[in-house]
Amino acid sequence: MSVPWWRSAVVYQIYPRSFADADADGVGDLRGITGRLEHVRDLGADAVWLSPIYRSPMADFGYDIADYTDVDPMFGSLADADALIARAHELGLRVLLDFVPNHTSDLHPWFVESRASPDAAKRNWYVWRDGEGVPNNWLSTFGEQRPAWTRDHPTGEWYLHSFLPQQPDLNWDEPAVEAAMHDVLRFWLRRGVDGVRIDVAQKIGKDPALGDNEPGRRHDEDWPSVHPRLAAIRRVLEEFDDDRVAVGEVYLLDQRALARYVTSGDELHLAHNFYFLRLPWSAERFRAAVDEFELLTHAGGWPAWCLNNHDHPRTATRYGHARARVAAVMVLTLRGTPFIFQGEELGLTDGAVPAEAIVDVDRRDPERVPIPWEPGPGTGFTTGRPWLPTHPDADRLAATVQDGNPASALELYRALLALRRATPALQHGSYRPVHAAPDLFAYVREHEGERVLVALNFAPFPRPLPAEAEGARVLLSTHAERTGELAGDEARVFELGRADQAPVAE
Ligand code: GLC
Repeated sequence: MSVPWWRSAVVYQIYPRSFADADADGVGDLRGITGRLEHVRDLGADAVWLSPIYRSPMADFGYDIADYTDVDPMFGSLADADALIARAHELGLRVLLDFVPNHTSDLHPWFVESRASPDAAKRNWYVWRDGEGVPNNWLSTFGEQRPAWTRDHPTGEWYLHSFLPQQPDLNWDEPAVEAAMHDVLRFWLRRGVDGVRIDVAQKIGKDPALGDNEPGRRHDEDWPSVHPRLAAIRRVLEEFDDDRVAVGEVYLLDQRALARYVTSGDELHLAHNFYFLRLPWSAERFRAAVDEFELLTHAGGWPAWCLNNHDHPRTATRYGHARARVAAVMVLTLRGTPFIFQGEELGLTDGAVPAEAIVDVDRRDPERVPIPWEPGPGTGFTTGRPWLPTHPDADRLAATVQDGNPASALELYRALLALRRATPALQHGSYRPVHAAPDLFAYVREHEGERVLVALNFAPFPRPLPAEAEGARVLLSTHAERTGELAGDEARVFELGRADQAPVAE
């Protein structure tokens, strides 16, 4: 069997509100994205994942969906979505959509019908409980921790919402819900999408008895029922062809639990790793995390790596510009499928959003500011008034400014993606950590005798190279000037002799 495309792919996440605005209303849209897809192709990525584009009241900026099978007018139309998919395919890019199965908007007709009366036909499509006090100790996400339950009028019963009250949880214990959500998938798969990113995938299995969360055991997610439900989603993808991919946002901070979502061979193909994403800047911590996940998945299962997205501060903000370059080399050379968040390839930091301009319920605005395509007002994102302030460093970090400058983040990403594409060991090779000085994380990737050594210096001062690097050809470095040591914050990639010609003792 040939290697599935998503194993060697690099996926680029697009946050539609902030990518490109074609109709000058200050909010990004599908025609804007279509017009900018060449940037993604020129970067060397293989696929795009679009955060939600569906009809939504935007209480959670599209993660509160009122119609799963229509595009929000703010983003365009179904015809615009078709055109986007067609253009992406023309450019050789696959398209993944966000699939949000855990909750709808409170304005979704299903919920409107469900809340009307305890006897409503769709009452059981959501999770309702009667009683004086909150049904259990489950908490909702966002800001301060509040009960995940809201008492509703006119029935006086409580409904479950793992996120905002405007995002009622669907009841996946009701077979009709599961069937309806499968039809949603089919609707988009028929339109040609190549896969889905599944929002909070761990949450579609909850304790049906609504038991209280206990220390060490949550009842509101990661319940055993989640696994057959994800397997059923996988089977819907397979009704089409073997090429459609399911990527889970599995927000569990335990790699052992996470691995169970990708190792059975019949559930998710890929799952984002938030334990990894949240690590502090430490060679030891990253190496330990990677080694553990490698061990958990090497018999089956393929890792996915990313260090930021629309919910988290950007890498260049968390770690700083120099370290973000080292992080880029790491994410793009580990064994697994890397995900890049739009703007990461520009080395963007979080934007500056003054308190009065914050619009997100969880204050995630800074990582969501519009992409600076060019210097000047609107930064090439919009000719209107942008929904969030444009990036304060646009003059320095805009794509047109970086283009062709070998010292830029953009050219580093392009070089890394080109190197991956040209190097089977980086795409498919095994992973073996190598002994290295403190503050270094170093590993060899090997495929059919071809071997590549990656050495990452997490310290801001020079460090000796691992012994394996002796005499090896340099394929890439974060630094233009290179010495016999790794400079502070330098990452270097080497081509080693073929394993069958020059065995290196460990
Ligand atoms: C996921 C999304 C996030 C959203 C939440 C609720 O974590 O990435 O943006 O707010 O789910 O849908």
